[in-house]
Amino acid sequence: MSQSTDAGEKPGVRLDLGHARPARSASRSGPAITCDDVRVFYKKHLAVRDVNMTFARNEVSALIGPSGCGKSTVLRALNRMNDLIPGARVEGMIRFEGTDIYGEGVDATEVRRRIGMVFQKPNPFPKSIYENVAYGPRVTNMQVDNMDDLVEEALRKAAIWDEVKTMLKDSALALSGGQQQRLCIARAIATKPEVILMDEPCSALDPIATLKIEDLMADLAEEFTIVIVTHNMQQAARVSQRTAFFTAEADEHGDRTGRLVEYDDTAKMFSNPSDQRTEDYISGRFG
Ligand SMILES: Nc1ncnc2c1ncn2[C@@H]1O[C@H](COP(=O)(O)OP(=O)(O)O)[C@@H](O)[C@H]1O
Ligand SMILES: [Mg+2]
Repeated sequence: MSQSTDAGEKPGVRLDLGHARPARSASRSGPAITCDDVRVFYKKHLAVRDVNMTFARNEVSALIGPSGCGKSTVLRALNRMNDLIPGARVEGMIRFEGTDIYGEGVDATEVRRRIGMVFQKPNPFPKSIYENVAYGPRVTNMQVDNMDDLVEEALRKAAIWDEVKTMLKDSALALSGGQQQRLCIARAIATKPEVILMDEPCSALDPIATLKIEDLMADLAEEFTIVIVTHNMQQAARVSQRTAFFTAEADEHGDRTGRLVEYDDTAKMFSNPSDQRTEDYISGRFG
């Protein structure tokens, strides 16, 4: 297999774009999330700026760039996960289905239900497989006709049902890392979100488990809008229709601030980027 895991990824490897899927037709796209001039601070530190981008419905968008350039920060801003970090502050405007998610009266919990998240390290709760999936609908008081059906549907969509259907009462912690991550995807799906954010979801997984998640992403995009952070460029090329390149530059005081450099169709980003910094990164001249 030519791809490596996220952890061992080094820029500069030639990208096979043979599997890159073209952007979907305009009728199915249209923005789910729009960022206008977004900046995120941690206390006084400006962590990332110049974030102007839209995430189209039913597409996979990838955020790439060197460590510390603000990818996770931007991702967390999209569903108000940064609210949970003391000192974090988002400026600019982020709209989800037209609504300012930081606007007055907007319920952050509801934002996070509709824009779900999957983290780098699989983090199932120390509960049964079933209870992991049922947890979200329960705590958000979702109207559920039949919890068994909902759990099954979420596990099926996360491509793990067949592996766990006879052991739903067993501890989630007994699953392999790759299974745990698909369970976490099922857990995110269970509350019926429209968007799923994934922060380096494969970086703790082996190549086989990684491929399973990558295959799953294409299926998930039929129903959800997906934004994935990855520092594996081949992964971005394989799974996404759009790619955003971020980098971090130091100001005159030496403070490093991340910024969005370029955001375009994935095939263009990896074959003919407009910005020299993108070109340098994807061809391995830095990073
Ligand atoms: N919880 C936090 N508190 C303070 N600073 C943070 C926090 N998370 C990230 N940062 C800072 O924000 C910048 C961007 O970090 P991050 O979004 O994690 O980058 P990436 O995901 O691209 O590696 C870095 O300078 C980092 O030190
Ligand atoms: Mg990160």
